[in-house]
Amino acid sequence: MSELESEAMEAEFGDVAGWTEEAVRALGAGHAIPAGCRGSGSEGALRWLADRLALRPGSRVLDAGAGVGGPAGWLAADRGVRPVCAEPMHTAARAAARLFGLPSVTAVAQRLPFRDAAFDAEWCLGVLCTTADKPGALAELRRVLADGGRLGLLVFVAVGPLPPPLPEGNEFPGERELAELVTAAGFRLGETATADLGDSPPEWSGRADAVDAEVARRHGEDPRWREAQEQSRRVGRLLADGALRPWLGVAEAR
Ligand SMILES: C[S@@+](CC[C@H](N)C(=O)[O-])C[C@H]1O[C@@H](n2cnc3c(N)ncnc32)[C@H](O)[C@@H]1O
Repeated sequence: MSELESEAMEAEFGDVAGWTEEAVRALGAGHAIPAGCRGSGSEGALRWLADRLALRPGSRVLDAGAGVGGPAGWLAADRGVRPVCAEPMHTAARAAARLFGLPSVTAVAQRLPFRDAAFDAEWCLGVLCTTADKPGALAELRRVLADGGRLGLLVFVAVGPLPPPLPEGNEFPGERELAELVTAAGFRLGETATADLGDSPPEWSGRADAVDAEVARRHGEDPRWREAQEQSRRVGRLLADGALRPWLGVAEAR
């Protein structure tokens, strides 16, 4: 294993990331953003956060835990900024660079290779629930953000005790615990909301599904694909049952 907290997560965020890049190349560049949004999954959630990051032309923006770069690619296309992607799985970080032409580095959020206050804004989507060391990640996110800069978060929060089977390696915080962690790291938590993960336009969902089908056609027999599918099925069930809530929040660096 490398940096992640379970082999199942390595399959989901590493191997599948490489296969996703391969499938996007086969189907066409128009598939890159929808297929590349792993976890953030909804255009409405990206828009809600982007509207609250106080972005200006030339803003220095970080996407921490960027996956294959779909959200950063969307932000670049929609808001005219050029986010820097940081992502621990090398195949995913490489895909972000190759699919979206964005600067991309292989790094965990707990050890970001940037100087203090290097960014004016940042977001971290679907990441804090995949790592046990949330204080370490939030401290680094605060360190590299300029005073007054905004952090956008998407976190799957546990509404109560979670019924098994749980996805391996995930640690879902409660909402109050999350708010305390954000505040303790030196942020002032502002607006929060619940994301509607089903609000993307039909062509967006259609393209994401087409990429999944292409990956399944090429790698459907691979145990790592089945493992990754099982992981996302488990998260999907917890969301559908209301045991997890897709929480959006914007915090300002104090
Ligand atoms: C659910 S995916 C979300 C990817 C992307 N942010 C998106 O919304 O499409 C979670 C990502 O967090 C990354 N990750 C896991 N542990 C991390 C850590 N400690 N620091 C930064 N990223 C991490 C995984 O490799 C994976 O790419």
